[in-house]
Amino acid sequence: MFYPIKNNVHFVGKIDWDLQKFHGSEYSTHHGTSFNAYLIQEKKTVLIDSVWRPHAKEFVKNLKAHIDLNSIDYIIANHAEPDHSGALPELLKEIPNVPIYCTANATKSLKGHYHADWNFKTVKTGDKLDIGNGKHLVFVEMTMIHWPDSMLTYLTGDNILFSNDAFGQHYASELLFNDLVDPAELQIEALKYYANILTPFNMLIDKKLKEILSLGLPLDIIAPSHGIIWRKDPLQIVHQYAQWAQAFQTDQITVIYDTMYEGTRHQAEHIAEGIHSASPLTTIKVFNMAKSDKNDVISEVFKSKGVVLGSSTINRSYLSSMAAILDEMKGLGFKNKKGASFGCYGWSGESPQHLADDLVKAGFLVSHAPLKAQWDPDDVALEAAVDFGKQLAIDWAPSDPSGT
Ligand code: FEO
Repeated sequence: MFYPIKNNVHFVGKIDWDLQKFHGSEYSTHHGTSFNAYLIQEKKTVLIDSVWRPHAKEFVKNLKAHIDLNSIDYIIANHAEPDHSGALPELLKEIPNVPIYCTANATKSLKGHYHADWNFKTVKTGDKLDIGNGKHLVFVEMTMIHWPDSMLTYLTGDNILFSNDAFGQHYASELLFNDLVDPAELQIEALKYYANILTPFNMLIDKKLKEILSLGLPLDIIAPSHGIIWRKDPLQIVHQYAQWAQAFQTDQITVIYDTMYEGTRHQAEHIAEGIHSASPLTTIKVFNMAKSDKNDVISEVFKSKGVVLGSSTINRSYLSSMAAILDEMKGLGFKNKKGASFGCYGWSGESPQHLADDLVKAGFLVSHAPLKAQWDPDDVALEAAVDFGKQLAIDWAPSDPSGT
């Protein structure tokens, strides 16, 4: 795989159509992913990042098919996470003395992962590396976006920003560039990536984007380490991130529930009906959490102004699929979103209150008493669910009529 990017820059990574789960089994990758590595061949030959360990041998074999490995002058490790550094042990068996440029934190992390003392060259924001023919690499630390060691690398002359995880998506395509792929698919995967991985770092991202834009660097290409490369209007994804970093929400309410004997499901559907009747233009999404993909649901929570969680009561609490999504929501630290809860029960009925309490712990603004229905909800209980939905729609109406 030696796909041209621009002038003397080539893609030498791995497009992984087969991957269905990333970060172990934490992140669903419906469109596969790619592990993007890049080779720059100026007076100096530079490798930017590598691939995940299962692809290491293939990665090195592919490099050997196109270059003499001994011609590599520098390796840039923008990030130490094993999906990008995983092929370094295999590569460095062949070229053990090649300098690896990375942040101080990456040195610690790479040593921790691979227990090897390679030829590390520590860099910090503003440091430059001359690669000949009038071109330089400029490094910018991206601390906690999203690991302590993260950084990005800018190639002068070609005006390419190798952004590592930032601006990436889990999206396999041989077409490589944003002007060649389905824009709707690309948007879904870019948003899912941000929502599920970068949400906790909103404030840092906002600050860092301003810092990058203030540098005024000419930008022809943003080349992330996963997925599609931004060639057409590359700043579009930077501006999109600036929006997402501001506690993003749209006029959407997402209802998420789990149910034992369909009673809570019927409540969920009637709540959705109530929301729609009071606010016909509000986007409503309803998920049975036990049957839904956690990461896709998080994308919907990310877009929502409010979430309504429901569960039957079991063991004086809520069902386990709701515990999983609540924990995820808590960890991601969503801001400025509203929450409400509901559920039906047989005799004790603690679930809706526990859901409300845990929504508050997850940072959601809860101001409505939970809706409860005993046994299977009858017509009166279902009408109460419709009214509950109507009230939420009214109380959660955006003050900005654009809905954003
Ligand atoms: Fe794609 Fe943070 O690794």
